[in-house]
Amino acid sequence: MSIDQITVLGAGTMGHGIAVNAVTAGYKVILHDIDQPAIDAGLARAKAFLDQGVERGKTTKEQRDQALQLLSGEADFSAAVGQADLVIEAAPEHLELKRKIFSDLGQSCPKHTLLASNTSSCSVTEMAIASGRPEQVIGAHFFNPVPIMKLLEVIVTDYTSSSTKEALLEFASRLGKTTAVIKDSPGFATSRLGIAIALEAIRMVEQNVAEPTDIDTCMELGYRFPMGPLRLTDLVGLDVRLGIADTIYEATQSPVFKAPELLRSMVASGQLGRKSGQGFYSYD
Ligand SMILES: NC(=O)c1ccc[n+]([C@@H]2O[C@H](COP(=O)([O-])OP(=O)(O)OC[C@H]3O[C@@H](n4cnc5c(N)ncnc54)[C@H](O)[C@@H]3O)[C@@H](O)[C@H]2O)c1
Repeated sequence: MSIDQITVLGAGTMGHGIAVNAVTAGYKVILHDIDQPAIDAGLARAKAFLDQGVERGKTTKEQRDQALQLLSGEADFSAAVGQADLVIEAAPEHLELKRKIFSDLGQSCPKHTLLASNTSSCSVTEMAIASGRPEQVIGAHFFNPVPIMKLLEVIVTDYTSSSTKEALLEFASRLGKTTAVIKDSPGFATSRLGIAIALEAIRMVEQNVAEPTDIDTCMELGYRFPMGPLRLTDLVGLDVRLGIADTIYEATQSPVFKAPELLRSMVASGQLGRKSGQGFYSYD
């Protein structure tokens, strides 16, 4: 099937980035969120990103203006999804919320609409079942910042049809992404491996094996990680990583994903990483 009109649900960090990436590739995009101020904020972030591209000489003014013409906001859910060929959900990481959204999508979208979730760790299968059209549901796990990060982790469930998968892969290719297709399972590939290493690094800090900076240096220079696991945890947010760890642990009961007490107590005391000014490192 051919994809022309896209609706992105959730105009936050990921949603506005997905919108920028898609309009730059020539798709029409409607950005939807729970209220107009959230939509306006997402549209403003998208415009700022495109403006920055012009300032840095990465895009021309004409390309930016063309992209912006393809982007609009819509606060009414039914109007936002009523013409969509593809909906990409980028709402907060709560399975119940996502289930509700997919149930609403199943009822409000045209019959042909493909439904994708940008979840980092929730069960895509659960969302597929909630939608009532599970063969048209797929995971599209983008990375932040979306227009720059090359990877799109594509999550297929036992229900996902091959035409849904092919359509998403074609969409990804037009966005300039490299795809990896992963079977729906707790943490997929990226979160499962990323969290396992991060939790082990935190356990090492907890056990006084080494200072955070030494642990990160080991992985950066010894294994050529672009960023050590603790520095990355600070960047992503300790609360976000704890949420993902808990979700994978709940699903697998594997001790690998049991969050260390240190992580839990840092989150409880507001040490969330860069965004709070303090995590495994201090930030101004
Ligand atoms: N931030 C990251 O680095 C990252 C990376 C990959 C995947 N993800 C995933 O992407 C999703 C979104 O994350 P984010 O960081 O953009 O979150 P965010 O908090 O920045 O944005 C979420 C947006 O969704 C909106 N929202 C809430 N309920 C909604 C609803 N019912 N319908 C539509 N919009 C609604 C919120 O108002 C908010 O603007 C999550 O599932 C997250 O796990 C995040």
